[in-house]
Amino acid sequence: MNILIIGSGGREHALAYKLSQSTKLNNLFITPGNAGTANLGKNVLIDTSDFAAVANFVIDSYIDMIVVGPEAPLVDGIRDYFESKSELKHIKIIGPGKQGAMLEGSKNFAKEFMLRYNIPTASYFKLTKNNIKEGLKYLQTINPPYVLKADGLAAGKGVVILNNINEAENEIESMLNGKFGIAGKTVIIEQFLKGIEVSVFAITDGKNYCILPEAKDYKRIGENDTGLNTGGMGAVSPVPFADKEFIEKVEERIIKPTIKGLIKENIDYKGFIFFGLMNVDGNPYVIEYNVRMGDPESEVVLPRIKTDFIELFTACCNQKLNEIKIETDPRTVSTVMLVSGGYPEAYQKNKTIELPNNDKDCITFHAGTKFSGNNIVTNGGRVIAVSAFGNNIKDALKKSYQMAQKIKFENVYFRKDIGFDLK
Ligand code: AMP
Ligand code: GLY
Repeated sequence: MNILIIGSGGREHALAYKLSQSTKLNNLFITPGNAGTANLGKNVLIDTSDFAAVANFVIDSYIDMIVVGPEAPLVDGIRDYFESKSELKHIKIIGPGKQGAMLEGSKNFAKEFMLRYNIPTASYFKLTKNNIKEGLKYLQTINPPYVLKADGLAAGKGVVILNNINEAENEIESMLNGKFGIAGKTVIIEQFLKGIEVSVFAITDGKNYCILPEAKDYKRIGENDTGLNTGGMGAVSPVPFADKEFIEKVEERIIKPTIKGLIKENIDYKGFIFFGLMNVDGNPYVIEYNVRMGDPESEVVLPRIKTDFIELFTACCNQKLNEIKIETDPRTVSTVMLVSGGYPEAYQKNKTIELPNNDKDCITFHAGTKFSGNNIVTNGGRVIAVSAFGNNIKDALKKSYQMAQKIKFENVYFRKDIGFDLK
């Protein structure tokens, strides 16, 4: 099978790593990819916002399947484009159509969907320019901290949490006035959920689903979960508190009703669903849906899946996931993200990276790298995710950190406390 992966991060490197383990793989292309994916397939440059350009490449290179890493092409309708053309219809795509992608593309859509199917989530108010008064009244009825979310995609920056009601009112005003562009024309005010976060993943064919290993992501730049939000500074899988009982609750209260809802609404969903959850006293609540795998969660979840990914993805496209069994490596995998100094604010690119030979049990996933001549240089804020297998969290992290310390580039930074809140 010939496969095209869309994306350039650690998640896409991890997808390429899993797909290249399959004996069924013929040619693998990644667009745009990074210096890590270049070792597993061929990086190609395609403007992926131009679906006709993607289609031309797919036809010319005899691609059988497209695996969409990030959300943007899904929200923009890449699946719908391929399904609408007779010459492209047969191409298999991992990722939902535009309608399914609304679960991530519109927080209001996701909230209304959860309400319709009784899926536990924080209570909320939908605020626009037309109901500001009622919205501000709602704000008075809830306790701080105040959670404010721009409805649309805002590059991971659309959630603001504030302790002070005046600050919250000002933030609502600036969101409505375009702080996040049209994404903020609708603002969701949400009740704050107190608990510990966990990410649970499933792959669905629109009818059947398989639950994948869960993970815990560390989003803040600073140790002890302080400072600005990032795309994710590290992750661990499995998550000890997400035990059998908890995952059963997630399946019964969240996953099953979500799939049922998709079926009821005739949303033909084929791809990953990422449930961003809060564990509130042992009960799971949905904070958000994503319609793709997480990053850096992929760098710990995917190495733990032993199932052949081409078989898994083919079954997903053929609505045969009921025939697939997810085989999981019982070991723990941790990942530590090496970022460029300054991230998530301004940072520099094009710094030469010194990569030593790999340690045993380690996988170095490239997140933001590229070739510059024969050198590998930084090409993003998040640069390299160092994943490692271990017998437990401590053991895995020890190996991730040993390797992380050997990777050098100017102004490298990483959190030293990944997993600090897990036993
Ligand atoms: P998101 O961009 O939706 O992932 O939200 C960013 C972060 O905000 C989440 O990872 C949570 O840590 C936090 N968050 C979002 N919604 C809530 C909520 N209702 N209660 C508490 N924390 C939240
Ligand atoms: N690590 C969080 C995400 O991928 O959205």
